[in-house]
Amino acid sequence: MRSTESLRDFCQGLPKAELHLHIEGTFEPELLFAIAARNGVPLRFPTVEALREAYAFTDLQSFLDIYYEGAGVLLHEADFFDLTWAYLLRAAADGVRHVEIFFDPQTHTDRGVPFATVLDGIERALKRGEDELGVSYGIILCFLRHLPEDAALATFEEARPHLHRLVGVGLDSSEVGFPPSGFQRVFALAREAGLHVVAHAGEEGPPAYVYEALDLLRVERVDHGVRSIEDPALVRRLVEGRIPLTVCPLSNTALKVFGHLRDHTLAGLHEAGVVVTLNSDDPAYFGGYIAQNFLETAVALGLDRATLATFARNSFEAAFLPEARKRELMAEVDAFVAG
Ligand code: HPA
Ligand code: ZN
Repeated sequence: MRSTESLRDFCQGLPKAELHLHIEGTFEPELLFAIAARNGVPLRFPTVEALREAYAFTDLQSFLDIYYEGAGVLLHEADFFDLTWAYLLRAAADGVRHVEIFFDPQTHTDRGVPFATVLDGIERALKRGEDELGVSYGIILCFLRHLPEDAALATFEEARPHLHRLVGVGLDSSEVGFPPSGFQRVFALAREAGLHVVAHAGEEGPPAYVYEALDLLRVERVDHGVRSIEDPALVRRLVEGRIPLTVCPLSNTALKVFGHLRDHTLAGLHEAGVVVTLNSDDPAYFGGYIAQNFLETAVALGLDRATLATFARNSFEAAFLPEARKRELMAEVDAFVAG
């Protein structure tokens, strides 16, 4: 048994999948400055430290404003490769064995960067990660919900020649005022094309948005979903349907969804029987990669190692992977826990 090892080492070594990770949110200030310099893109922050100091968020929108600004220095295939490769090195060191990466093509195509440039760079790094680090992957295209559905439909048509390279579509960006119901047509097209579907819902938005994501978009997982606990019937529905939540604890405290990790609803959701997974969301901005999310959550909520191992098994259950690969990865969790 692994009783003598530190909790930090346990959290890092535990095999896991990361299912809620925005690749643009892994942009560390040092890399951002390096890519801005090589691309000749001016920044309004004089130093890495000054940029980091601006990461004092009050809500989701205050984060998104700076996140989109940072993504503005990404221009070339090599930029998307470097960004993704840097993330994969961190993730592999944190015990990540499978990753499903979100990317926001509209953030880039609206600046004139071709869709294929973005996808080519991300995918090249992921292929290398699979070969050299043993981390399998899926790519999820997210539509920006603060833009009209027509823009999402145009993006989907742009993506059509590349759909075989994607595992699914998602919905992100500003939540309140932009409910899932506005994106039914584009999600129907994605489902018809055989893609998996997920959506951010119930992060800042009410349980009604989670219902809309389930009933109108027919999502298979809910990203965040932490406000679901306000509605016992919704919790029952998540439990009975084994609909996973991709919870991001450090994101939720950084964006003031909860005042403190000890106030987080994930333990209550887990105890109610919901398939909870832990993820880092935008780790360069929220103070930690996935193992740090496991560690700080365990400490704040008093979760034992068996519960953390359950979250890891849940992440493989919730992944868009063939059953055989899921079983193989879950066996890795069992072997790790047994020491
Ligand atoms: N919520 C919504 N949109 C996002 C997030 C998030 O946590 N991260 C990046 N885009
Ligand atoms: Zn997110």
